[in-house]
Amino acid sequence: MNVISLSDMTVFYGPVRGVSGVSLTVGEGEIVALIGAIGAGRSTVLKAISGLVKPREGELVFRGDDLRRIAPATRVRRGLVQVPEGRRIFPSLTVRENLELAGFGVGGGRAQRRERLQAVLERFPLLGDHLPRLAGMLSGGEQQVLAIARGMMAEPKLLMVDEPSLGLAPQMVESVYDLLVQIASEGTAVLLVEQNVTLAFEITNRAYVLQQGEVVLSGPSSELADDPRVVAAYLGRAAASPAAGS
Ligand SMILES: Nc1ncnc2c1ncn2[C@@H]1O[C@H](COP(=O)(O)OP(=O)(O)O)[C@@H](O)[C@H]1O
Ligand SMILES: [Mg+2]
Repeated sequence: MNVISLSDMTVFYGPVRGVSGVSLTVGEGEIVALIGAIGAGRSTVLKAISGLVKPREGELVFRGDDLRRIAPATRVRRGLVQVPEGRRIFPSLTVRENLELAGFGVGGGRAQRRERLQAVLERFPLLGDHLPRLAGMLSGGEQQVLAIARGMMAEPKLLMVDEPSLGLAPQMVESVYDLLVQIASEGTAVLLVEQNVTLAFEITNRAYVLQQGEVVLSGPSSELADDPRVVAAYLGRAAASPAAGS
């Protein structure tokens, strides 16, 4: 079943076009990449789904329901969660407080919130060791893990992650990616915006390529990784000379 499905979605910021005619789907347990250059419209797609911007046109369907009829303020509670670019954790609060605050956002009683925190800590043992620390004192990679863990407090049906690898050391990127793969394997749909295209193709089932607000290519990641247009534009090497790549 598709968790999210967009058809012909167009978003404007005043007179500026964010994206136009975007169609995409993410199914249960699927992990899908949204790639493109800076300004291509990747964040706009995520913001339209989470309700931070309102599409001008198009159909948005979330688990069979018209998404536009679900108020943005209640979307997190329904399981639509965006981990924003730049992590946006609260640096002067502790790791525990960051997680607890995320739990408040999704409602439920105290017992339920404690249960959710317990479940999240089991999944993210690294954070368990840091609960009393100020979030701002964590490394960049740990902060990204915390940001994803905050998202998981909402028990998302769709987890959208915007550029999680930005500024992280390579081995930390790998841990973050392992987490996303694990989250998807447990049934959550994951929509990943990533500028590291090579990495994104390795862990995703399918990908969409955005260019100037439009989807120009889409398909299985393994096929796109060999597509000469993708190779030339995003993988920084000529299609005919893979040895020259990075
Ligand atoms: N708040 C905004 N106001 C005006 N234009 C915006 C705003 N946010 C994004 N845009 C424009 O929309 C387009 C897509 O931006 P964005 O979705 O942020 O791209 P990406 O995440 O791929 O870098 C760009 O042309 C960008 O300048
Ligand atoms: Mg962006």
